[in-house]
Amino acid sequence: MSRPEARLSAAAALPNDLEAFWMPFTPNRAFKKAPRLIARAKDMHYFTADGRAVLDGTAGLWCCNAGHNRDPIVAAIQRQAAELDYAPAFQFGHPHAFELASRIAALAPGDLDHVFFCNSGSEAVDTALKIALAYHHVRGEGARTRLIGRERGYHGVGFGGISVGGIVNNRKFFGSLLTGVDHLPHTYDRDHQAFTRGEPEWGAHLADDLERIVALHDPSTIAAVIVEPMAGSTGVLPAPKGYLARLRAICDAYGILLIFDEVITGFGRLGFAFAAERYGVVPDIMTFAKGITSGTVPMGGAIVRAPVYDAFMRGPEHVIELFHGYTYSAHPLACAAGLATLDLYRDENLFARARALEPKFADAAMTLRGLPGVLDIRTVGLVAGIDLASRPDGAGKRAHAAMEKAFHDLGLLIRVTGDTIALTPPLIVSEDEIGEMFGKVAKVIEAVR
Ligand SMILES: Cc1ncc(COP(=O)(O)O)c(C=O)c1O
Repeated sequence: MSRPEARLSAAAALPNDLEAFWMPFTPNRAFKKAPRLIARAKDMHYFTADGRAVLDGTAGLWCCNAGHNRDPIVAAIQRQAAELDYAPAFQFGHPHAFELASRIAALAPGDLDHVFFCNSGSEAVDTALKIALAYHHVRGEGARTRLIGRERGYHGVGFGGISVGGIVNNRKFFGSLLTGVDHLPHTYDRDHQAFTRGEPEWGAHLADDLERIVALHDPSTIAAVIVEPMAGSTGVLPAPKGYLARLRAICDAYGILLIFDEVITGFGRLGFAFAAERYGVVPDIMTFAKGITSGTVPMGGAIVRAPVYDAFMRGPEHVIELFHGYTYSAHPLACAAGLATLDLYRDENLFARARALEPKFADAAMTLRGLPGVLDIRTVGLVAGIDLASRPDGAGKRAHAAMEKAFHDLGLLIRVTGDTIALTPPLIVSEDEIGEMFGKVAKVIEAVR
């Protein structure tokens, strides 16, 4: 990688002032003193501006499930940009939007048949919550306004998402949030669940707390419950066995809509098109984003069951049924990228591939057990969460040092939240690369002991 021309073009790509960009979810001053700059990517690797390869242990941010810069997706985006740059989705439509919606509905389980498009996971969550509220309203149950989330839940950064979410730092700076929100307890207990592969045996009973919340507020006031089938951003908490089915049963008993936020679990991460399929539980509304375009063009959406959609399709036909939408809902580039991505998932059988790799991935992750400071390891699908003991001088410092060490010295991209390392590689990862990834993580853990 040290050809003179490679160095020349890399140098040209380096910014000379990092100040203007206020980086999201990043300690800006620390980053700008010691930047981690990524210049290009291909398949399983990122490349730094000076041409160093970095194995992508996180599929970007849980989104590049088909790997990076895949030729068919790149070509589809290029073709689409040349053919139709933009068309309004309000009152007009373009063919790829309808085609992609049909393809997504066909992948989704049960009668999850209708797709509302937006541009991110946060918008998908707000869309789902708004559909749930409006659904009860149009059916004459407008008193159902309460939304139930879960402690440690991450549902993006919109006001709806942080209100039902349960990550304290994402909430405490931003005022009183939505009113009428309550939270289920989170599902993690290290004493009962440490070093579990897949769904923990312990914890299904925590779903029964919904009964307490329902009794407290009365079912006639509750619109929806929203959970991630696997809580990802908080540090990888797979659903306990039977937990989601129990939530489904309680929601059914009281006419409450169940929303699965599948922004990271969708499109193969847990070995199925959606986690709903893995768990055999069909929610009323399901969000998606990230993997739909393998991270190439922003896109998100909410998939709703037929009875929910049908409830809106009444009244005079010239009247808008749902007063909601985004300028870039079903953007042509996103639709083209989505269609090409779904083709790739199908042609390369990537969801089944993830399912087949799951035991090997879990074995590799569990080899870290016993290393200094490793408190717990959780795996499900192609996801691993590794809890490290916090350093006495500050929570999060050890994992942050691990991320820096991995990137700069070992050529590996890992994700950290608090003192948890999350590994979620693209679904094209090979067995050798799984070995390489966990081998490097072992070295990193030793280095930050
Ligand atoms: C479950 C879940 N919901 C919503 C979001 C928000 O997505 P975005 O960052 O695209 O707004 C995320 C992002 O990680 C997520 O994991």
